[in-house]
Amino acid sequence: MLGIESSCDETGAAIVGVHGEVLSNVVSSQSPIHTKYGGVVPELAARAHLGIMDLVVTQAIEQARLTRGDLGALAVTTGPGLAGALLVGVNYAKAFSYALRVPLVGVNHLEGHIASAWLADASFPLPCVVLVVSGGHTHLYRRERAGDCQLLGCTRDDAAGEAFDKGAQMLGLEYPGGPAIDRVARQAKAKPTVFPRFRSPKNNLEFSFSGLKTSLLYRLRALPERLTSEQVSCLAAGYQEAIVQVLVQKAFAAVAQAGVSALAVVGGVSANSRLRTVLQEHARREGVQLSLPPMAFCTDNAAMIAAAGRQTLLNGINPSSEIEIRPTMTTGPRAPRAGYPAPFGMKGDSSHS
Ligand code: KG4
Ligand code: ZN
Repeated sequence: MLGIESSCDETGAAIVGVHGEVLSNVVSSQSPIHTKYGGVVPELAARAHLGIMDLVVTQAIEQARLTRGDLGALAVTTGPGLAGALLVGVNYAKAFSYALRVPLVGVNHLEGHIASAWLADASFPLPCVVLVVSGGHTHLYRRERAGDCQLLGCTRDDAAGEAFDKGAQMLGLEYPGGPAIDRVARQAKAKPTVFPRFRSPKNNLEFSFSGLKTSLLYRLRALPERLTSEQVSCLAAGYQEAIVQVLVQKAFAAVAQAGVSALAVVGGVSANSRLRTVLQEHARREGVQLSLPPMAFCTDNAAMIAAAGRQTLLNGINPSSEIEIRPTMTTGPRAPRAGYPAPFGMKGDSSHS
């Protein structure tokens, strides 16, 4: 199964074998193109995908030591994401599947992130709780043995990755902000600045990061315009800690509420070194089995898309040549709780991308 990913600013192609093993995983990042704008420029993203897609796919096939004729099926991200960027991947995949006469499966990007929890350890148990933390999503799901998901809670405003990116911008750090905050926070010599943490009723599994952002803004206004690198590091470390503690507290509360003993944390923010440490400490203390994808599978990649596509085929769902981009789709909780976005594939999808 060849997977193709182009929902945002990474062009990815990867191949998984018949047993789900990753045979190759090629990612071309556009960060250098977007960094001077402080965020992803959709038009530039689409053009860059177009320019490099064929090379990335060719490399994925070569690295797997295969030829095009060995491919049995294709999977491509159909959404959520940037419309122009998605179109490049979907149109490439449609043409390629037609030429090779192999089936093509459309994959929800979030289902891809969720599938990444099983890429390194196919025996990770179900049911479990999955926390998806990416640039556009902070969503807690209970995933059942059959693979369907129930949404337990999500963010009321910004996603965790967005909070990292916007915080980094305020601190004068480069885009993408998550890795930048992660790096400078580790250089802090003094104590991290203390930031308020989002508090909500005990059983509530919602997140909110907009207050934290405002708090950083007010801290910065009270400081001189030019900060020392130590000041930036202490602010970054405290800001990161506030995000990490809320994510960890809610994730383990969800595990308890869902009555399971396994937690998977996936998406770009799961690459955060402090988050990984605190999650591992908590999991050990509470006897919870934890799945944290290897770094290459945390941020956007096509191995997770191929894995999710393979699962779709194994579940007996017929591929259709009629796949279209769905920039605003959300992921697949079959039975959402009242007030949450509708399941993907159903009418009334609402966007959190
Ligand atoms: O999953 P992803 O690659 O793309 C989306 O689906 O959105 O996630 C990207 C997000 C960005 O907001 C980026 O700043 C964040 O993941 N990120 C991190 C780290 N690496 C990437 N956030 C915190 N710490 C990191 N090390
Ligand atoms: Zn992603």
